[in-house]
Amino acid sequence: MFNSLKPIPADPILNLVVECRADPNPNKVDLGAGVYKDESGHTPIMAAVQAAQVQLQQQETTKTYVGPAGLASFNDSIAHLLLGNSHPALQDKRVACVQTPGGCGALNVAAHLIQRCHTEEKKAATVWVSTPTWANHIPLLSSCGLQLQEYPYYNYQSHTIDFDAMMETLASIAAGDVVLLHGCCHNPSGADLTREQWQSVASLLNEKGAIAFVDVAYQGLGDGLEEDAWGLRYLVEHCPEVIIASSCSKNFGLYRERVGAVLVAAQTSTAASNSQGQLLSIARGIYSMPPNYGAALVDIILNNPELTQQWQTELTQMRERIIGLRGCLVNKLQAAGAGSRFDYIQTEKGMFSFLGITPEQVLKLKNDHSVYMVNSSRISVAGLSNNNMDYIVESLMSVI
Ligand SMILES: Cc1ncc(COP(=O)(O)O)c(C=O)c1O
Repeated sequence: MFNSLKPIPADPILNLVVECRADPNPNKVDLGAGVYKDESGHTPIMAAVQAAQVQLQQQETTKTYVGPAGLASFNDSIAHLLLGNSHPALQDKRVACVQTPGGCGALNVAAHLIQRCHTEEKKAATVWVSTPTWANHIPLLSSCGLQLQEYPYYNYQSHTIDFDAMMETLASIAAGDVVLLHGCCHNPSGADLTREQWQSVASLLNEKGAIAFVDVAYQGLGDGLEEDAWGLRYLVEHCPEVIIASSCSKNFGLYRERVGAVLVAAQTSTAASNSQGQLLSIARGIYSMPPNYGAALVDIILNNPELTQQWQTELTQMRERIIGLRGCLVNKLQAAGAGSRFDYIQTEKGMFSFLGITPEQVLKLKNDHSVYMVNSSRISVAGLSNNNMDYIVESLMSVI
């Protein structure tokens, strides 16, 4: 059976990590993978998470199955974190929520749900994704048979969202189509919709009878926990139906514990309850139940005011460090003679920005300077530090 398998290329982002690890150059820099790093290049365990680990060890009494929905109180807390404490959809019990293995699990379970809805209506399900989008959106959404279409999003020349082109394309979508939006900190561009743009998108989707699907993987890493949820909350308030995929990998630093949630904001509490049932049956058919450990930690943090405060303080420090690194990179590039070419990096949000250099220049940075980034020139800003900044600026200036 296996003799017929063809080799497939390694995942370009994950492969960079492997290549960088094997590089003996002491000056090497990994700007590839989207993980937060501190000044020493380490991805730390947050202190709030460490405190929750101690508590969990003391209070955990069983390892019996948790069930396909995961922890009910985790789901409740995540729904409130995303939508706010007094969102009408929560008060009306119109929100289904199921814990998933990371944001990837949420995206895939949501994709199956979209497919199920359309199978019953005997229509092909189409999901529109931004160009560019996070590379893993494509396999996560298309593996269960959804058709993917692209809408223009980022203008590589002006380093802004091509909003007119985006709206022009979305004006042609059909009723029942689903539009995937990044809730904040767009991956890979770092260019986020303004509040006015969120409002225009909501109106257009309502006019077309299309459904918003919002991926929220970086809440708190752009402008703040509340600010980063503005667009999502606006959609849930103004559109009859919204699907949400959420991840705790980045904002709780729980990457390997696989913590996330899929939510459906439905038109009625009955539709929400039916969505919940469908989500559970989808989860049962893929992985049966989500892992417990990471979600139990998030649950402890979000239900303990002191730990919540501590977590928010740490998250603010992470966000401010990333913003500071953006500013520092731009200043140093200006001082090195790049002019205003990279100024846009200062205003973009979250972990990523494009450097806007060619694949050949990306390769030269890797081969000649051991500076690693994705082929598209997306950099993970948290990989910068005061220690490597001058080296990166020098290396970049030598290839452009
Ligand atoms: C845009 C986006 N969505 C979802 C995820 C999923 O993250 P995870 O499955 O690690 O929680 C990521 C991770 O990098 C991401 O960048």
